[in-house]
Amino acid sequence: MFLMKKTLFKEIPLSVPNLNIGIANSLRECIETGWVSTGGRFITEFEEKVVAYTGAAGAVGCQSGTAGLHTALRILGVGAGDIVVCPTLTFIAAVNPVRYLGAEPVFIDCGADLCMDTSKLERYLREECHGASAGKNESPLIDNATGRPVKAIVVVHVFGVVADMERVVDTAAKYGLPVLEDATEAMGTFVRSGRYDGRHAGTMGDIGVFSFNANKIITTGGGGTIVAGRADDTNENARAYLDEARYLTTTARDDGLYFAHNEVGYNYRMLNLQAALGVSQIDELEKFVEIKRRNYERYAELLARAPGASLLPPPEGQRWNHWFYSLYIEDGGGVTPDTRGGGEVPGGRRDRLMKALIAEGIQCRPVWKLVHTQESYKKFRAPEIERAYDYEKHILNLPCSTSLTEEDVRYVSDKILDLADE
Ligand SMILES: Cc1ncc(COP(=O)(O)O)c(C=O)c1O
Repeated sequence: MFLMKKTLFKEIPLSVPNLNIGIANSLRECIETGWVSTGGRFITEFEEKVVAYTGAAGAVGCQSGTAGLHTALRILGVGAGDIVVCPTLTFIAAVNPVRYLGAEPVFIDCGADLCMDTSKLERYLREECHGASAGKNESPLIDNATGRPVKAIVVVHVFGVVADMERVVDTAAKYGLPVLEDATEAMGTFVRSGRYDGRHAGTMGDIGVFSFNANKIITTGGGGTIVAGRADDTNENARAYLDEARYLTTTARDDGLYFAHNEVGYNYRMLNLQAALGVSQIDELEKFVEIKRRNYERYAELLARAPGASLLPPPEGQRWNHWFYSLYIEDGGGVTPDTRGGGEVPGGRRDRLMKALIAEGIQCRPVWKLVHTQESYKKFRAPEIERAYDYEKHILNLPCSTSLTEEDVRYVSDKILDLADE
């Protein structure tokens, strides 16, 4: 039983922006010069800083991560009637752009690291598709059940944990598929071992997308950036993708003067106002990663004696940005496979703790309801989903803002230890 004990009340948010008031000077410049929209010096400056930080070949600022993902899928040739392989354990915005383009997702389970299970990805492509095979990528890969062509893989670096990109890229290459990295949560994470040693999330697949929404490790209010390739390689595709991204996000405008648009583009370019926040925030990114790392360590130490609960361990072989801290609670409540799309089963241990903490002013949340169980996605295939159900049922995400103090972490941990009284 979780017992409610009355002590002092303090509100602790889940993940809020940490904006230096000095940023106001940049916003003032936008206002005074009138450069508040999709043009202005901060956009270029921010893109250059993203390139310098991530080592990508180039960067195109856009108005949100969702806009970036939509644009990227279009560049990768996804269209109506195609199949795109997606994770089910993710925020729904990673999958919605597939539907914007009239394509259909096939959902893959997650592995222990929260990211796409690469064995299940490989199995789906090998056993449930036919057509393309290693070295013979000229014929399209066809999904057996629907007869539709498989056009791309979307891999999400969940909670900032970079997926096993060696395996994803090798598998994709075997079947002639491009990889879109949804790195929306993973700015600041890079690989520290193997073939991709030193490579940042978002720069290993064909195209990568970051988000700078208010809950991300750095924010531009709302915003995103499309990246591709690496500065030190001569990947022609990457350059072409970036040119196309700039073009499509600027309403596919072919010339400056006569408003000629040879394609249907999008009004998705980043605003100078957003970028003004970004140029300052990105300078603080390393400091934020360090604060998040320290707070994670504190939680891990303080919660080591929490009964039946433990923080998911830091992923190996990478410098993780520690974006979200996930407490795994045994004997959890919440959604079960039997209730696919049918709503929650209240009363489990995780849910009782979550509600008790929220009542105490501590914002915390479960992992997302799995995408394949969402109303708009129930009709699409999701073979072999297992671990994602387990995480959906057992994970509780704890406050992780970069403004969280040592005292706040102790306060939250004490509450958890008090309430997790068995
Ligand atoms: C995994 C994932 N994909 C996509 C998005 C969409 O990004 P945005 O909110 O910037 O549109 C987000 C975050 O919001 C996300 O967490």
